[in-house]
Amino acid sequence: MKITNICCIGAGYVGGPTMAIIAQKCPHIKVTVVDLNIERIAAWNDSDVTNIPIYEPGLSELVGEARGRNLFFSTEVEKAIDEAQMIFISVNTPTKTYGLGKGMAADLKYIELCARQIANVAKTDKIVVEKSTLPVRTAEAIKNILENTGNGVRFQILSNPEFLAEGTAVQDLLSPDRVLIGGDSTIEGNEAIQSLKEIYANWVPEDRNVWSSELSKLTANAFLAQRVSSINAMSELCEKTGADVNEVARAIGMDSRIGSKFLKSSVGFGGSCFQKDILNLVYIAKSYGLNEVADYWEQVIIMNDHQKRRFAGNIVQTLYNTVSDKKITFLGWAFKKDTNDTRESAAIYVSDYLLNEQANIAVFDPQVKGKQIFNDLNYLNTRTIEENKNGITVFEDPYEACKDAHAIAILTEWDEFKTYDWQRIYDNMKKPAFVFDGRNILDAEELASKGFIFSSVGSSK
Ligand code: UDX
Ligand code: ADP
Repeated sequence: MKITNICCIGAGYVGGPTMAIIAQKCPHIKVTVVDLNIERIAAWNDSDVTNIPIYEPGLSELVGEARGRNLFFSTEVEKAIDEAQMIFISVNTPTKTYGLGKGMAADLKYIELCARQIANVAKTDKIVVEKSTLPVRTAEAIKNILENTGNGVRFQILSNPEFLAEGTAVQDLLSPDRVLIGGDSTIEGNEAIQSLKEIYANWVPEDRNVWSSELSKLTANAFLAQRVSSINAMSELCEKTGADVNEVARAIGMDSRIGSKFLKSSVGFGGSCFQKDILNLVYIAKSYGLNEVADYWEQVIIMNDHQKRRFAGNIVQTLYNTVSDKKITFLGWAFKKDTNDTRESAAIYVSDYLLNEQANIAVFDPQVKGKQIFNDLNYLNTRTIEENKNGITVFEDPYEACKDAHAIAILTEWDEFKTYDWQRIYDNMKKPAFVFDGRNILDAEELASKGFIFSSVGSSK
């Protein structure tokens, strides 16, 4: 089938950027991105294209170019489903917060709702592409729903997991390492796979198209997260033994079998995928009775939680065992640089710990809005909304945020933090002035020479 009309359900971090690229690279295809969230769609349609709800380098320009031409954002979900030949599902699949599998399994209720809606609305044959991070065998579940509740319309379900990393989404989508497409090995299944391949062929070389199962996405994320937890485990040992984790990472990264990427020691990984995918893997392993497999992967999460707690604990200990009523400034709240996404960000957990120790926390992040920061903390349910409001102050200017602080903690590796006037920051802080670099981005010697008491992850210097 030659595709001329695509609908994408879910205008989030995956759906938005992915569809912007398809629209740009395939001017002959009409792409409509729909979402139930009226506010989010309004932001995607904002006449000032820099106000789109997702911050990704290069994305505003892309949207500005294609929007209104062959890229549309709308809340009319049913109309878009009806008109499309191919429907991408990129709705959220958070970890379940209730019932069976609570805290581990992925919650598929949004996916299921989408499938039911597609089944109700469709009057012509459709290809349904699942994009969200999903546990294995979800394609089968979607298929069951579509085949048993539909109007006799025929569906092909394809699995096309997304590998874009936030902060580099545009680049990752423009030149992906690989495009995975899974589907039925029937004639109709192969035709559907071919239709999707043809879309990607507009910009991705054919040889990067490979067939694979749904498990590949989970496996890729689990392997990457495991590297971060492994180097973080070494960071603690480095601090005790006087070694420097950056040196260690550099040395082992030279071994091409290991490679230099994903070896940056940090305050702990965050983001919408790593923790969720690993917990999902653990859940799947347990449900098959594979307890050793489950324990093995769970340890990656346990190590990550430990790293966040350890960072916070170190701040308390260094500040003479109390941070009560002390101003601690967080530079960065996003889970990594170049995104405004905060899901599972280490900053949330570190601040939670420090609020329990009665610290006053000041936050500055170049892209995250105050409302989001309070939402993140309130979502934890550790204390009342009022208490969170009293404990945290959000600043729009980094120098104001750092003024009169007892300590500064770097939670996100934003490039701009490196270029700040650190002398000015030092002069306006309480003394002794402490800096805790949770991302290893600042120059230890330079900061020490200005008078700071400086510490970073994985170094005892
Ligand atoms: C990840 C996968 O990389 C991507 O392929 C998949 O599609 C979605 O999940 P993302 O969550 O956007 O992407 O970010 P990623 O760059 O993988 O970083 C995840 C976390 O690990 C971040 O908090 C990051 O700061 C941290 N990290 C990463 C480190 O602490 N050290 C590193 O060396 C690399
Ligand atoms: P991701 O990082 O996977 O893209 P997001 O949470 O950023 O996740 O985006 C998912 C989007 O899907 C949200 O904006 C949410 O409102 C939307 N969504 C969830 N369920 C539905 C549905 N049934 N119909 C339309 N949109 C939906």
